[in-house]
Amino acid sequence: MNLVAPQKRFLVTGGAGFIGSHLCERLLEDGHYVICLDSFFTGHRGNLQAAARYADNLEVIRHDVTQPFDFEVDGIFNLACPASPIHYQRDPIHTIRTSYLGAENTLELARRLRAPVVHTSTSEVYGDPEQHPQTEGYWGNVNPIGPRACYDESKRCAETLMFAYRSHYGLPTKTVRIFNTYGPRMHPNDGRVVSTFIVQALQNKPITVFGAGTQTRSFCYVDDMVDALMRVMKTGDEFSGPVNLGNPVELEVGQLAELIVEMTGSSSPIIRKPLPQDDPRKRRPDISVAKAELGWEPTTGIHDGLTRTIAHFEEALVARSAPIMATLEPQAAPSHPMPEVRQPAKVTQLAS
Ligand SMILES: NC(=O)c1ccc[n+]([C@@H]2O[C@H](COP(=O)([O-])OP(=O)(O)OC[C@H]3O[C@@H](n4cnc5c(N)ncnc54)[C@H](O)[C@@H]3O)[C@@H](O)[C@H]2O)c1
Repeated sequence: MNLVAPQKRFLVTGGAGFIGSHLCERLLEDGHYVICLDSFFTGHRGNLQAAARYADNLEVIRHDVTQPFDFEVDGIFNLACPASPIHYQRDPIHTIRTSYLGAENTLELARRLRAPVVHTSTSEVYGDPEQHPQTEGYWGNVNPIGPRACYDESKRCAETLMFAYRSHYGLPTKTVRIFNTYGPRMHPNDGRVVSTFIVQALQNKPITVFGAGTQTRSFCYVDDMVDALMRVMKTGDEFSGPVNLGNPVELEVGQLAELIVEMTGSSSPIIRKPLPQDDPRKRRPDISVAKAELGWEPTTGIHDGLTRTIAHFEEALVARSAPIMATLEPQAAPSHPMPEVRQPAKVTQLAS
C-alpha cells in the first residue's frame, strides 16, 4: 500500500499505446497518479506491464474518446489516435472522429477542470513539405483528399480546436507536433519503418524500402519524446505551442535499412517497392523553439536507440510464436501477434 500522497493526477488518453505507455510509466515513476484511457484499438494492456508495478497509482479504463468522459485530474495528455497509415487508413472516418471528437471531449473536460492539456499533433500537418527543415511557422502542404488526409487534416483541425479553446475560453492548451518516434513497444506490424525493418531483419526476411530509399526521416527515441512531453506539461499557462518535437538528425530510409541489417547481423536482402501516394520526401524538424522554450533536445543517438529497440523486438519475437507479416501494406485489422524467429539474429552494438 502506498502511503505517500501522489503528487498530481494525470489523464493520459491513448495511454496503452506506444508513446502513451512510456509516458504513463514516467509519470508513475515520478510519483503521480495516472488514469490511462484507451479503446485498445492499437494499444494493449501488455504495454502497461512495466507501469503495473505502480498499480496503486494507476487506473486503466477502456473507453473510446469519441464519447465524452469525465474525471478529476490536474492535467491531461491527449494521445489517443492511431498513428500509422495502416491503422489510421483502416477506418478513415473513425480516425477523423477520434482526432476531432477526442480533442473536443478532452477540451470540454479540461474546460470544466480549468486544467492544462498537452495535445499530441504530428509532423504530418506539414504534409509533403516545401520548406526544409520544417519550422512551426510553416503552414504545410497537405493533400486534403488523399489517402493520408483522414489523419493529417483531422490532426490539423484538432490543433485549430486547441487554439480556439485557448483564445475563446482562456484554456491552457499546449500543442506539440511529434516527428517520427521509435523505441520498444512500437506496434510490430503497423508499417512504421523502424519496427518494420527490425522485424523483417530479425526474421531474415526481405526488407522493403519504398522508392529509391533516398527519402529522409528523422527518428527520435521514445525516452527523449516522453521527456519533452513532461517538460511541456510543466510550462506556464502562456505556453501554447505549437512546438516541434523530434530528432533533427536526418537519415535516408535506405541508410536506416542498411544500419538495421548490420546491427542485427541479418541476412535480409533489401528490396525496393514503389513509393506510396503522398509519401513525404523529406522530414526534419527545426527544434529551435523546443530548445529555447523547453530547454529540450534529444540525447539518445540512433545506435543506442536502435540497440534498445532491437533488443525489445528480439525478446518479443522469442517470447511469442504466432507468425506475422511485417509489411507496409494495409491489413484487415490491427493485431499484436509477434512473428516467429527462425534464426534469431544477434544484436551488434556499433559505436555511436
Ligand atoms: N509515434 C510517432 O512517431 C508519432 C508521430 C507523430 C504523432 N504521433 C502522435 O502521438 C500519439 C501517440 O502515438 P503512438 O505512436 O503512441 O500511437 P499508438 O497507436 O501506439 O497509440 C495510440 C493509442 O490511442 C488509442 N486509441 C486510438 N483510437 C482511440 C479512441 N478512439 N479512443 C481511445 N483510444 C484510442 C490506441 O488504442 C493506442 O493505445 C498519437 O496521437 C499520434 O498521432 C506519434
